Amino acid sequence: MSSLFISCGQKDHKLDKSIYPLELRKEWPEIDIPVNNPMSIASVEFGKQLFFDRRLSVDSTVSCANCHKSEFGFADATPLSVGVKGRLGFRNSGSLTNVAYLPYFNRDGGVRTLDRFSLVPIEDHDEMNLNLLVMRDRFSEDQSYIDQAKVIYNRRPDAFAISRALASYLRTFISDNSPYDKYVYGGDSTALNENQKRGYDLFFGNKAKCSTCHTGINLTNYQFENNGLYANYNGKDRGRQRVTDNPDDEGKFRVANLRNIALTAPYMHDGSLPDLESVLDHYGNHGSNHAMKNSIIDQIIITDSEKQDLISFLEALTDIEFIQSSKFKRTIPIKF
Ligand code: HEC
Ligand code: HEC
Repeated sequence: MSSLFISCGQKDHKLDKSIYPLELRKEWPEIDIPVNNPMSIASVEFGKQLFFDRRLSVDSTVSCANCHKSEFGFADATPLSVGVKGRLGFRNSGSLTNVAYLPYFNRDGGVRTLDRFSLVPIEDHDEMNLNLLVMRDRFSEDQSYIDQAKVIYNRRPDAFAISRALASYLRTFISDNSPYDKYVYGGDSTALNENQKRGYDLFFGNKAKCSTCHTGINLTNYQFENNGLYANYNGKDRGRQRVTDNPDDEGKFRVANLRNIALTAPYMHDGSLPDLESVLDHYGNHGSNHAMKNSIIDQIIITDSEKQDLISFLEALTDIEFIQSSKFKRTIPIKF
C-alpha cells in the first residue's frame, strides 16, 4: 500500500493511493476501469471534492451536485435542470446510478468515455460554461488540488486530472441493494410484496413486454429506441439522430436505466411525463404514431390494475441504502 502525507493548508491530509475497494455483487460483471486511471482511495476522494465544487462553473454558482442530487437518485426533480445564470438545458438530468456500467453516455450516446465525460457539462454553455484553461488556472491556485493532482496523476489540476478524478468518483455510484436485488440476487423471496411480485411477472412477461427493452442489471439493453413519445419531431430533440445524422434514428433514445426510477421524476428525455402513472398511461395507450416507433410498443396490453402493479414493481427498484450512503454526502466545506 502506498500512501503519503501532503500538506493541505493548515492540516496534514493523507493521500492513499491504494486500490479503492469497489464491492460488486458476485453475479455482476466487473466494471471497466481504464489502465491510465486506476481507481484509488485518493482519486475517488479527489473526485468527490470536485463533484461538490461550484468553482467548476464560470461564476462559481453551480456544482455537479446541483443537477445530480442523491434524494432524486442523482437526477434532478425538474423537467430541465438550471445551469449557470439561470440557463435551461434541453434534457432532463440523468441519474448517475450504476453509471460505470453504461457503454456510452447521455441519452443519445453522444459521449463514449466516462473518463472524459465531465468535460462536457463543465464546458457546456447551459450547464457550467467554464473554459478548461480557466479551470486549470483557477485550480492552480488551490494548494490542496495542486497536491492531489500531482500525487495521483503527476500533473497540474488540468482537464485530464479533473475529468479522471470525477470518473473515479462516478464509478463508486453502485446501487445493488434494492428490494428487487434482494429478491433476484439475494434469494430473499419476501423482499417483494404481493403487488410488486405481480408487477415483476408483468414486467418480464409477454403482455406488458417491458423487458423486451428494459433488461439486464440496469433494466436496459442500452439500445436506441423510439418509444412513441411524439408523432413529429420538428423543432424537437431528435435524440440519436443528432449524433448519427441518420433519419432512421429520429426520436430514438437510449432505453432508460430504471434503477431508482421512482425517485427520478419527471420522466423521458425531456421530462415531459410528470409521474409513473403517466408513463404507464403512455405505454398502455401505445404512445404516438411515428414511422420509427418500435412495433413492440403497439403490442403492449395492460389494464389499469396491472399499471398499478407495474408501478409497485418499479418502486421496488429504489435502493435507500445507496442514496443515503455517506459516500455521497458532502464531507468537506463548500469551496469557492
Ligand atoms: C445544469 C445541470 C447539470 C450539471 C451542472 C451537470 N449535469 Fe450531468 N447531466 C445533466 C443532464 C441534463 C444530463 C442528461 C444529458 C443527456 O442525456 O443528454 C446529464 C448527464 C450526466 C451523465 C450521463 C448519465 C447517463 O445516463 O448517460 C453523467 C455521467 C453526468 N451527467 C455527470 C456530471 C458531472 C460529473 C457533472 C459535474 C462536472 C455534471 N454532470 C454536471 C445535467 C447536469
Ligand atoms: C421498445 C422498447 C421499450 C419498451 C418495450 C418499453 N420501454 Fe420504457 N423506455 C424505452 C426508451 C427508449 C425510453 C427512454 C425514452 C426517452 O428518454 O425519451 C424508456 C423510458 C422509460 C421510462 C422513463 C425513464 C426515465 O428515466 O425517464 C420508464 C419508467 C419506462 N420506460 C418504463 C417502461 C415500462 C414499465 C415498460 C413496459 C410497460 C416499458 N418501459 C417498455 C424503451 C422501451
